[in-house]
Amino acid sequence: MRDKRFADPGPTTGSGVITAKILRPGADNRAWPGWQAQTVLNRMTETFTIAHLTDVHLSPVAGFTPRYWNLKRMAGLLNWHSKRRGVHSRAVADLLVADAKALRADHVVITGDLINLGLPAEYVSALEWLQAIGPPERVTVIPGNHDIYSSLHGDAGVTRWAAYMGGEAETLAFPFVRRFGPVALIGLNSAVETPPFAASGQLGPDQIEVTRDLLERLHDDDAIRVVLIHHPPLAGLTSARRALKDVKLFQRMLEKTGAELVLYGHNHKPLLTWLETVNGPLAVIGGASASAARLYKNDPLAQYNLFTFFKSEEGLRIRQIVRGLERPDGPVVKLSERVLEKR
Ligand SMILES: [Fe+2]
Repeated sequence: MRDKRFADPGPTTGSGVITAKILRPGADNRAWPGWQAQTVLNRMTETFTIAHLTDVHLSPVAGFTPRYWNLKRMAGLLNWHSKRRGVHSRAVADLLVADAKALRADHVVITGDLINLGLPAEYVSALEWLQAIGPPERVTVIPGNHDIYSSLHGDAGVTRWAAYMGGEAETLAFPFVRRFGPVALIGLNSAVETPPFAASGQLGPDQIEVTRDLLERLHDDDAIRVVLIHHPPLAGLTSARRALKDVKLFQRMLEKTGAELVLYGHNHKPLLTWLETVNGPLAVIGGASASAARLYKNDPLAQYNLFTFFKSEEGLRIRQIVRGLERPDGPVVKLSERVLEKR
């Protein structure tokens, strides 16, 4: 039987995004909109491969009309023109997506920052980009801080992508779960509107608690739990200005529930960190930007991850192949390969 605590489909933020709010027993409980019940497979009969892309920052930045002018977007626009515009290339992102499809990835996940200034034209354009990758059954997205950016004056914003976030426009909620055979994708929203020059995030205690419940249930179902979050989910992985404000609470939750894999973006750098949990070591993996056509600071050129899950009596093996550009204007090639083992 389902727990008495349910995620409430409200209230919405200024960006029209709903994050989990727990109603205590006795309150007016409603159905859990993010949940998609599907048959659970206890044993994997075939492998499943996820392509993980992040921080594509699609160009062009269009539609910056006076209605959307404010200090946050002005600062963001300056930053875009002085730095990011020369780095991020939609054509490169498309190259990586084509590569993932050619290698027969079963599903594509994108851990946020699809756009730049949170403008209506950018959301529309990014939706078209998602549709070009594939239908919602093949693609999962979560928002990044550039996707929930600043005041939208009633525009639908990121809810345009709801079908790719396990919901529909009127029922989009976080966390969401999408089941694909033995794999469960748990999508979180760490993005909140912030003041100019800040890029921090926050999950909120209710989203963390609902996620904990989900992870425990999915563990009981023997699912391969893949958590998707934009901001680095462990303490110390970025500066306070760019960090998840409740990172310690979230990390403690992960230590208690475990998971099989956590994927994040935001830093534009590839990194594997192991977290000790009750279910053994958990691989927490950050991705490079999937659209970097030029070197910028210490960030690498565009990359993406291919994760293939192999489950057996002995445990779980996750093969990680990193593919991307070795040189600007070069082809997409294999950059590295390793196997993450969980027993
Ligand atoms: Fe970000």
